[in-house]
Amino acid sequence: MTEDPQQAIDEQSEQKRQRDERVYEHTAGDVQEGIPFIGAGPGDPGLLTVTGRELVENADLVVHAGSLVNSELLDEYCDDAELVNSVGKDLEELIPTMRDAYEDGDDVVRLHSGDPAIYGAALEQMDALEHEDVPTYIVPGVTSSFAAAATLRTQLTLNEVANHVAFTRPQGKTLDADEDHISEFLEMGDVTTCIYLGTHAIPDTMDRLLDDGHDPETPVAVVYHASWPDEDVIEGTIETIGEKVEEAGYRASAMVVIGEAATGSGYERSYLYGDWANRGPNDSESEADD
Ligand SMILES: C[S@@+](CC[C@H](N)C(=O)[O-])C[C@H]1O[C@@H](n2cnc3c(N)ncnc32)[C@H](O)[C@@H]1O
Repeated sequence: MTEDPQQAIDEQSEQKRQRDERVYEHTAGDVQEGIPFIGAGPGDPGLLTVTGRELVENADLVVHAGSLVNSELLDEYCDDAELVNSVGKDLEELIPTMRDAYEDGDDVVRLHSGDPAIYGAALEQMDALEHEDVPTYIVPGVTSSFAAAATLRTQLTLNEVANHVAFTRPQGKTLDADEDHISEFLEMGDVTTCIYLGTHAIPDTMDRLLDDGHDPETPVAVVYHASWPDEDVIEGTIETIGEKVEEAGYRASAMVVIGEAATGSGYERSYLYGDWANRGPNDSESEADD
């Protein structure tokens, strides 16, 4: 690399004050020029998008997020490609690997788990590559909280139960205690809180919620490896879930869903298939859910 990656990121950020023309030229599903940053989905190869699959199948080099991407998916779709595990590699190593292969005319893809927009650190790689004149773009994927909702057979937003969803993570090495807002999301009442990167910290997180005075009976569901063959669901409450997860021995790769919506119960029928469905033919102003 010619420069410090942070300098490249800063310079790219400065340029973004003027919107990139590609934002208007393409839609989110377009295959574009450059290296695609693909959301691999939560694990099951069937949950990779059709476009993502086509790109991965045609790739010469696949840089993937290690154990977070199901090896079944790599086995199934990346037969002929060179595979590089990004875990333990810094930008100084990853960027030249992708750039050089791309400049040699190889089809390069970057595979992130779930969706690259959530706790993926995709943008810094994209900016560093763009700074080296390698175009990039995003192919979205199914984020793990959506897979967990499917496993739990529920919705994260649910009429009269949860009007909002928080994607969050607990305090730890990356987040200071005063940046941990899990307790505040619960305080709001009608929020489903989905905790990423927090499996190892479930007992501590629950203890803090109890100390903050939250109802010990608040439902919590933990979905380990959603959509993988060894998927597991542990259900409990703020008071009980910590011990149950410790007993199961999970320290990573689980989604923690806090709130009544995790149970899929206690909701009211929606306006959409009630009064809204019976509105007059000209009343199309308001936005409907589906
Ligand atoms: C680095 S983050 C990446 C999140 C990813 N970009 C996404 O959209 O799901 C990793 C965290 O996502 C969650 N995660 C990823 N895959 C999962 C799965 N299949 N089941 C449950 N949680 C998962 C876990 O909380 C894990 O600690």
